[in-house]
Amino acid sequence: MRSILIAGNWKMNGGPKEAETLLKELKEKLTNRNLTTDVVVCPPYVSLQKAVTVLSNTSVKVGAQNVHFEDNGAFTGEVSTRMLKETGCEYVILGHSERRENFGDTDDVIAKKVRKAIADGLQVIFCVGEKLEERKAGNHQKVVMDQIRAVIDQLTEEDVAQLTIAYEPVWAIGTGETATPEQAQEMHLFIRNFLKEHWSTQRLEGVRILYGGSMKPGNAEELLRQTDVDGGLIGGASLDAGSFSSIIDIAEKV
Ligand code: 13P
Repeated sequence: MRSILIAGNWKMNGGPKEAETLLKELKEKLTNRNLTTDVVVCPPYVSLQKAVTVLSNTSVKVGAQNVHFEDNGAFTGEVSTRMLKETGCEYVILGHSERRENFGDTDDVIAKKVRKAIADGLQVIFCVGEKLEERKAGNHQKVVMDQIRAVIDQLTEEDVAQLTIAYEPVWAIGTGETATPEQAQEMHLFIRNFLKEHWSTQRLEGVRILYGGSMKPGNAEELLRQTDVDGGLIGGASLDAGSFSSIIDIAEKV
């Protein structure tokens, strides 16, 4: 049985001071709760250490939003898996559409990053999703399948234990427009069936598929109730401790 994962992608928001305030508030809201939901927050690199410190005696884990595939060297502006692990970071988001679109993260680069992060013991939240024109043209399943294939072809069955997939339709990110629960369920089932062609069903039982794209307290329940939606990757609503904890409350109840 898969437990639900609620992850907050802060994107380029929340320096150390803001992170401290937000996470102390979140921690307060979650005190004395025996959560069955797994919770992860992914602030910018500079706030990771602060997040780990504030959340040290809680079950909330910390993740980064990117990582390089080399260990060290002349890669100005980049950060390695070892550096992330040294901060106490356990998760990393890879393949986000904003990185695909703006920072040259091709399928090939993403595959290298995912492989490296898994090899070095990080939990990976690997994002896929189609653009609006691709959905309108009826190509959404093929686009997502190609994105997934590029990465899973590079992985072994054992790697699956460290893999979470996040389906984030690009047209639903930061737009206020959400996939309908039916659209989400249809794609999540498609992804799960596609994975089954690659790996044994037993291992796949543990692979979570998150939905991302304007998830908020008002729509989280209907999305999380879908059979193949195992959690959420939340952008905007994760920057408010009240909204984020409300989504966690909903996850606890569904
Ligand atoms: P929003 O929740 O702000 O739409 O962002 C979704 C997202 O991109 C999470 O990675």
